[in-house]
Amino acid sequence: MSIRIMGTGSAIPNKAVTNDELSRFVDTSDDWIKERTGIESRHIATGETVDELAGNAARNALLDAGADPSKIDMIIVATCSAEQALPCIACQVQKYIGAYSAVAFDLNAACAGFLFALNTADVYISKGIYKNALVIGAEVMSNMINWSDRTTCILFGDGAGAVYLERDDRPFKFIQKSNGLKDDVLFCWQRDSMSAFYRGVQTYKYVSMDGKEVFRFATRVVTDTISELLFDEGLSPDDIDMFLLHQANLRIIETISKRLKADISKFPTNVERLGNTSSASIPLLIDEIRKEGRLKEGMKIVMSGFGAGLTYSACLMEV
Ligand code: ACO
Repeated sequence: MSIRIMGTGSAIPNKAVTNDELSRFVDTSDDWIKERTGIESRHIATGETVDELAGNAARNALLDAGADPSKIDMIIVATCSAEQALPCIACQVQKYIGAYSAVAFDLNAACAGFLFALNTADVYISKGIYKNALVIGAEVMSNMINWSDRTTCILFGDGAGAVYLERDDRPFKFIQKSNGLKDDVLFCWQRDSMSAFYRGVQTYKYVSMDGKEVFRFATRVVTDTISELLFDEGLSPDDIDMFLLHQANLRIIETISKRLKADISKFPTNVERLGNTSSASIPLLIDEIRKEGRLKEGMKIVMSGFGAGLTYSACLMEV
């Protein structure tokens, strides 16, 4: 037993911010950003919150599937940018959509979070514990960014994507890995200690990243993990119809396509318009290509995400 995507949905903030707009407050240019990242614009929240975006994406996925919220068994939200520490975003989504019989919890594996959540849902469903699940990736990364740091503020965007899953017998295989030894490559301290016994004040509360190391890590581990997954299944990149990768950077995606010797046309992207939306990037992409009618019955799809932790994952799914 495994899972099948029955419906998808998205929510993105209204405000689109172009590279030219960013160049008004940091020393950068449209040419530099496009050349190094492929990003042309991104959507940035102006009041929209992680729970609101997650709830709207979830509602759209249920509408797409024609599913009844009262019959949902499980909601998992992948996020690393929730404004509110408690309760979790998934419980807020539960309330928003009226999924009162669902069990709901959040999961943080940074930009790999959506696939970690999808894999988690697959395990629950495959074991027969639940029949269906809503898996959501939702982020307001703009709250965590130092908007005067040109090396990070140009990269990220806000948004949420959701998939509604039901039990099925199509193949769904995954690999997920973590490397905590590399925790200093990409990190963000968020809260000062409020303890009566210890005052810990964080001096830098923004996303901090070693861009070159992330680039090296991503291109290596994504290529290796996808190759391992395909080898285990007796497949080659030629057997795969589409590769849906975490949308961090166009150059990362192009490098992986070359290393896998898979044609770049098999790698749809939205990073140009949405920037890096962390755990939301893959479900946003799935929703786009599904709505464009590009997901056809029987297609073999590989997805792969990577992020802070470091965490990474790849999965193989048949549509
Ligand atoms: N505009 C103009 N110049 C810039 C900018 C900018 N926004 N940012 C950096 N520069 C400058 C640097 O200061 C440097 O100048 P110097 O040579 O005078 O010192 C020059 O450009 C080159 O900087 P590098 O850091 O060497 O640029 P690089 O080619 O490595 O590109 C980038 C930087 C785009 C961040 C690249 O390293 C990268 O793509 N890394 C991957 C990071 C990533 O995708 N992170 C996503 C978040 S993590 C995740 O999703 C898992």
